[in-house]
Amino acid sequence: MFGEQKIAYSGVQPSGNLTIGNYLGAIRNFSEYSEKYKTFYCVVDQHAITVRQVPADLRRRTYETLALYMACGLDPEKNTLYVQSMVHEHAELAWILNCFTMFGELSRMTQFKDKSARHADNINAGLFTYPTLMAADILLYQTDVVPVGIDQKQHVELCRDIAERFNQLYPGTFTIPEPIMAKHGMKIMSLAEPTKKMSKSDENANAVVYILDDRDTIIRKFKRAVTDSGAEVRYDPEEKPGVSNLMSLYSCFSGKTIEEIEREFDGCGYGDFKLAVGEVTADALAPVQASFHSLMADKGALEALMKKGAEEASWYARRTLAKVQKKLGFVQIR
Ligand code: TYM
Repeated sequence: MFGEQKIAYSGVQPSGNLTIGNYLGAIRNFSEYSEKYKTFYCVVDQHAITVRQVPADLRRRTYETLALYMACGLDPEKNTLYVQSMVHEHAELAWILNCFTMFGELSRMTQFKDKSARHADNINAGLFTYPTLMAADILLYQTDVVPVGIDQKQHVELCRDIAERFNQLYPGTFTIPEPIMAKHGMKIMSLAEPTKKMSKSDENANAVVYILDDRDTIIRKFKRAVTDSGAEVRYDPEEKPGVSNLMSLYSCFSGKTIEEIEREFDGCGYGDFKLAVGEVTADALAPVQASFHSLMADKGALEALMKKGAEEASWYARRTLAKVQKKLGFVQIR
């Protein structure tokens, strides 16, 4: 809560091409909060440098992520859309929160364990303290709800623990945020290994459908998707993770329930079903892609939006940071 306003906050890293996991687990759901909440959606470029980035790619993807936010229905007049590195309070609060976060807590983060296994030659301190920067993002805006995919739930829970610890020492500082997840889109799995999350950093491009993939590519990737033994289109994530993932995707893109899908494809083989999933996905993404390309054609307009978004966000961020600094005993001279 910021005054009387309830706040929704989320972020996406511009660290790779965005996937239908990012879309269904997060971005697609963001616009539904704009009516009831004051909303902030951030392009978290500072998070992205915890693994090495090519500067030109990072810059391009920062524009692209902002354009995708809007292409997915976020109106910059109703939502504050901005880039993290343009609001310096994030890094400042992150330092403070580092002093209220335990080494053991950070060591238990599954994403840290996974990423340090994948980037064994670059286990930098930023990768380790990444969740405190994420906590700073959320807490700076006195956030009530954080729409995310399930892979980020642990980080939001740690953020709550940090905020509660801080509030115990300095009462009334932070709103305690809650993660919220989409029922079917919160964990979209890889098409090649359906027991693994679909990830923008996957090296196998066939395992991942990107939001910007063209129709033929989308249909080809679904045709190749790994399914399970048997031939029945039946939802059973334990026994049939491949088909169940495709059913979740079909449900998200068509709006049909799992029962309706089971009925619709009763007696059909996997081949027909995979084609149907590809088509419904391509149909749903087509308008997003068209809008994305027209937004990307005007870099100047995107930059003006980045500037406006950063100014709006800074107004809130400055207030929370000043409150925290005062509580801690930092000298403030006006
Ligand atoms: P990131 O950039 O990895 O992912 C962006 C969002 O997409 C969701 N997501 C998925 N959802 C369903 N299925 C999948 N396969 C899938 N893959 C990704 C993520 O859960 C996320 O919601 N640390 C965050 C970014 C962040 C943030 C924040 C989020 C930084 N500060 C503050 C919320 C609030 C991240 O790396 O997301």
